Amino acid sequence: MPTFWVAGLAVAGRRLGVPLLSSNDYAPVKIGICGLGTVGYGSYRLLQSNRQELARRVGCELVVSHVASRRVREGQDIGDTRYSTDPFAVVNDPEVDIVLELLGGIDVALPLVLQAIANGKHVVTANKALIAQHGNEIFAAAAAQNVLVAYEASVAGGIPIIKAIREGLAGNHIQWVAGIINGTGNFILTEMREKGRAFADVLQEAQALGYAEADPTFDIEGIDAAHKLTILASIAFGIPLQFSKTYTEGISQLTQQDIRYADELGYRIKHLGISRKTENGIELRVHPTFIDEDSLIASVNGVMNAVMVNGDAAGSTLYYGAGAGAAPTASAVVADIIDVARLIANPQSSVPALAFQGDRLSGLPILPMAQVRSAYYLRITALDQVGVLSDITEILGDHAINIEAIIQKEPRGVDADNQRVPVIILTREVLEQEMNAAIAQIEALPTVAERVMRVRVFRFDV
Ligand code: HSE
Repeated sequence: MPTFWVAGLAVAGRRLGVPLLSSNDYAPVKIGICGLGTVGYGSYRLLQSNRQELARRVGCELVVSHVASRRVREGQDIGDTRYSTDPFAVVNDPEVDIVLELLGGIDVALPLVLQAIANGKHVVTANKALIAQHGNEIFAAAAAQNVLVAYEASVAGGIPIIKAIREGLAGNHIQWVAGIINGTGNFILTEMREKGRAFADVLQEAQALGYAEADPTFDIEGIDAAHKLTILASIAFGIPLQFSKTYTEGISQLTQQDIRYADELGYRIKHLGISRKTENGIELRVHPTFIDEDSLIASVNGVMNAVMVNGDAAGSTLYYGAGAGAAPTASAVVADIIDVARLIANPQSSVPALAFQGDRLSGLPILPMAQVRSAYYLRITALDQVGVLSDITEILGDHAINIEAIIQKEPRGVDADNQRVPVIILTREVLEQEMNAAIAQIEALPTVAERVMRVRVFRFDV
């Protein structure tokens, strides 16, 4: 069986045939999903909904050929995909190229992953406990079998922090990694602080939203964060996974009083995972932490996660995003599938220069500025005369431009001397060509003294 060295790992399988001329010709890569919980079904759905876009990136179709779950829940639709109740049926299915281990826990997941590896299958997992506690054994088995085990989804949900540290920051000597890596805990602390809610009540909501672990003490006692920190420390410092040596302290003892005192002192309490390299060794610790209220991480609230990495060359870089939930975690799972599937489809390929396969680039046009939609701030310098404001608003109305706010300032200084008055308008979104036309008409009014100052508004949807 031929092997090809890619990113330090040899990859083998059926699948390593002679590269074909066009990416359209590669055989579909078959995926087997073990576990149809929040992440499993989220990944199934993402693979279906983004099917065409994913094929453009990989160069072949990604097909879910087999799923296993104890049951298909109400509202889940897996079409005519082959279904088993036994996850080993997926692992032993000769059709399956990549096994998604999305069961969670260790008891079934560990033998399942080891069997998949023994069967020569690549594995993608979101299981932080499995990687933190048994990763050393799993990666050794995978290396011996020349298969990949990818685990981006195991840390910080939708934030591609594994890739960022392992690849993006590979040129650095990493000094420390610190962050909020448990969404449930951050959600609880945020709600307690902002709404004065009780600990147990918020935890129940996090469970209902699908953020919490099956055993929520993993979240609130810091075990889940310790799993994730163990993984981050390994890839940051090049050390074996050492979960049992992680210091872990939870948030369950914190009271409203502590949160109020922190506020008074100018701090926030966050449940942080911190790993720092020192002369004597590596710190590996999870505990509630006072952080300055002005620091970026202090404003990371709700279920959001954020990880800051300090490297000797890049300095500090910050990664922020949804740390839990079906779609964000599925985003990381599918990214791993793409990495593995690209190698299966064509082992001699590297990541395409423009992210999508060269022969599958889209012909979508770049919009001219006139076709861009934006909201606007307008500063109009008008003569201090009756009817000016109504002339301006009439023009905006004729172009179906909705006004969000309007301020007419009292003229001062030079403006007052010249009998000019600044009119400030904030609009809703509109096509730029409409705004251009409206501005041209406003500037043509005899009562408008200067060119209109326009600044576009962009609202970050977070
Ligand atoms: N229970 C975890 C959290 C899920 O709340 O962050 C994502 O790992």
